[in-house]
Amino acid sequence: MSLNLLKGKKGIIFGALDEKSIAWKTASKCFDEGAQLVLTNAPVALRMGEINKLAAACGNAPVIGADVTNMDDLKNLFEKSMEHFGGKIDFVLHSVGMSLNVRKNKHYTEMNYEWNQKTLDISAMSFHKVLRTAWDLDALNESASVVALTYIAAQRVFPDYNEMADAKSLLESVTRMFGYYYGIKKKIRVNTISQSPTRTTAGSGVKGFDGFISYAEKMSPLGNASGEDCANFCAVMFSDYTKMVTMQNLFHDGGFSFTGVTQAVIEQMEK
Ligand SMILES: NC(=O)c1ccc[n+]([C@@H]2O[C@H](COP(=O)([O-])OP(=O)(O)OC[C@H]3O[C@@H](n4cnc5c(N)ncnc54)[C@H](O)[C@@H]3O)[C@@H](O)[C@H]2O)c1
Repeated sequence: MSLNLLKGKKGIIFGALDEKSIAWKTASKCFDEGAQLVLTNAPVALRMGEINKLAAACGNAPVIGADVTNMDDLKNLFEKSMEHFGGKIDFVLHSVGMSLNVRKNKHYTEMNYEWNQKTLDISAMSFHKVLRTAWDLDALNESASVVALTYIAAQRVFPDYNEMADAKSLLESVTRMFGYYYGIKKKIRVNTISQSPTRTTAGSGVKGFDGFISYAEKMSPLGNASGEDCANFCAVMFSDYTKMVTMQNLFHDGGFSFTGVTQAVIEQMEK
């Protein structure tokens, strides 16, 4: 189903690694809704080649490599995107995350701080770098919409989420701060979407993910939001119907965030 919500809009999508990626599903949805796209990922991820399938399915969208922590790469990405579109950009999805301490099985209490710096750079400060690059180049149209993906571990403790909890808190703070300045400057909206646990490469890296995802399912009145559901929500956030929403962390989790307990969890505990 397409409502042509994004007809005539031009966007950059960060982070489509494979078909499971939330960014992959969002790119497909935005294309179906009438948007023109540029796709980007880290050069090492592009070497897998998967993204070319997505590019072909999105009207031969250009794929431009960029390490999201590298300001030169980001400048090149935004400049080339504007050249391709023949104008400025209407929306950006930051769907990027990586934890070195999680990857290397370091417990939170035994954190390696060098790895932690890298994690915070890739998963949180990179959002500042993306916004800053767009700001410096004046690359975004008035009322453009910028969204990053986050997780509720920024507000509440999920022990195995490890240092990513701190990264997501920082990401959400950058969203509010930059959202303030970009709102005043150009009515540009900056928000995070806090998504249910979803089976993707990054998601499945969290220890005990299977237990985690079924617990969330039982604790959510609507059940877990899927990657496709998230893509739909992103499309709405990029559309003109959400022009007055900014600096928010928007829970997209089937009601998990405001649920104390559910009958399903009580029954499980009584077994
Ligand atoms: N899967 C979940 O359960 C879940 C839940 C809430 C939020 N999120 C968030 O959604 C976003 C997308 O993750 P996903 O679950 O689709 O997994 P994914 O593994 O498909 O996507 C993560 C992406 O980050 C990219 N990336 C890593 N380092 C990079 C760098 N230096 N430069 C550029 N790109 C880089 C990877 O190549 C990959 O495409 C992340 O921010 C993640 O934290 C995921």
